[in-house]
Amino acid sequence: MNIETFEKAFLALGGVLLGACLAALLFASVVMGIQLPGRAGEVDPEQLATTPPFDQPGVRQVDANKYEIVVIGRAFNFEPEEIRVPVGADLTFIATSQDVLHGFNIEKTRVNMMLIPGQISRTVYTFDEPGEYLIICHEYCGVGHHTMGGKVIVE
Ligand code: CUA
Repeated sequence: MNIETFEKAFLALGGVLLGACLAALLFASVVMGIQLPGRAGEVDPEQLATTPPFDQPGVRQVDANKYEIVVIGRAFNFEPEEIRVPVGADLTFIATSQDVLHGFNIEKTRVNMMLIPGQISRTVYTFDEPGEYLIICHEYCGVGHHTMGGKVIVE
């Protein structure tokens, strides 16, 4: 084989890989419904105590099997620190930060958001298995960063 044949073969391979990655991305977003947590609005971080829904952080039932979980991240805790939800329920997490950049990650799930002061983050999730799931702040936010956590109890 001459060098041109090799070049063409590698170009073709590159094209095939690119196509495969695009197909996987489309499959994940369209068929499996996996989306990045979206920017869901803006909020004044200094007025959280008087701005719905952040004036009442916690779990709220909005329909037969639908719950909204409103979370505030601040140095160095989450409010609420403990979230109780039923297994199999449609959950919408609505969160923001009161001060600096924090992370909101629930272990063993794809719930993984940035909490940004001034911005509302939103993501949806359903727990299929009961149990306790650790919430961690995965964005360095100061001296107490490693103590910033919570848990979700799925029952
Ligand atoms: Cu909050 Cu790290």
